[in-house]
Amino acid sequence: MRIMSATIKASQGAPYSRIYGVGGERGNRVVDNAEMCTIIDSSDEWIQQRTGIVERRWATEDQTPLSMALAASRKAIERSGIDPAQINAVLVATGSHTRQFPSLAVSVAAGLGLKDPAATDLSAACAGFCYGVSLADSMVRTGTAKNVLVVGVEILTRQTDFTDRGTAFLFGDGAGAVVVGPSETPGIGPVVWGSDGESADVIWSDDWNEAFASGKKPVIHMEGNKVFRWATTFIAEKTAEALEAAGLKPEELDVFIPHQANNRITDSMLRRMHLPESVVISRDIRQMGNSSAASIPIAMEALLESGDAKSGDTALVIGFGAGLVYAGQVVVLP
Ligand code: UT7
Repeated sequence: MRIMSATIKASQGAPYSRIYGVGGERGNRVVDNAEMCTIIDSSDEWIQQRTGIVERRWATEDQTPLSMALAASRKAIERSGIDPAQINAVLVATGSHTRQFPSLAVSVAAGLGLKDPAATDLSAACAGFCYGVSLADSMVRTGTAKNVLVVGVEILTRQTDFTDRGTAFLFGDGAGAVVVGPSETPGIGPVVWGSDGESADVIWSDDWNEAFASGKKPVIHMEGNKVFRWATTFIAEKTAEALEAAGLKPEELDVFIPHQANNRITDSMLRRMHLPESVVISRDIRQMGNSSAASIPIAMEALLESGDAKSGDTALVIGFGAGLVYAGQVVVLP
């Protein structure tokens, strides 16, 4: 008879984690509002006033979720200074991979020549990148991975209903990637995240089987007003919670990079959170449109490249979208 069970070992990792490099890749084709208005009944004035979008980036035919994810990842890895051989996990947040398996993450890992990394996709819509950053942080700190590549990639224009003037002008295509690795000081704050499956019918994609069976392309649908209200109330509160969870006061924050869904949502969040004028606000949606899981890392790269933000700055990021789901945290910029 056994008296005592054996004690198993548990993994242990670094005290903290941080982002070491970020890279982005945008759709090759620039589509301005004038061109958009040859497709839908709208105007440059309406689109700019309601969303802030001036132009968006669409993937060209030769661009795929894989090619864009690889381009962004190569930049992020090079900038991180981390030996690719030391990256042993890949998380890809996407709603644009057009098969259930194998995952896009395994193809990204293979395309980068990574040897035997853990690899999986995440389905958390526009919150996917922030979900990935939080999981990567936990993996590095619990020692289940040394360094984690986190990618957000979308080609939503291949799932856009161009007869729906309420959504067609919103989307942009792109990829953004970061490398998360071990750190002696905190570089990724506590995540504030959640979901509300009761609101699954607020933003949704057609059931692919049903769509194909009826000879249609599966497309995205959205109750824009409902999403807008949720984002400017509940999500604004959660954003403030993520700042608090990191132990920062609004005046201690350097940069705010919300999911690039609508400049008016960003404005409303700013009013609710009382962020001081000194905080640099991402407005990347103007040139990019809404690129879902890719929007935050792409916007992060743009702020660092323009010099508006600098390495070491504290940045509050929050993603929110179909689910409904959300995730936000404070990160130290690479
Ligand atoms: O990334 C995931 C999260 N997504 C979001 O956060 C999106 C959140 N929602 C939004 O950003 C906004 O709801 C939209 C930008 C999508 C729409 O803006 P809105 O101010 O909520 O417009 P609306 O749907 O309330 O429509 C207002 C009016 C309507 O006309 P009436 O009924 O007032 O006469 C629409 O028919 O604007 C009309 N409209 C348009 N007019 C010109 C709707 N789409 C267009 C258009 N051009 N493209």
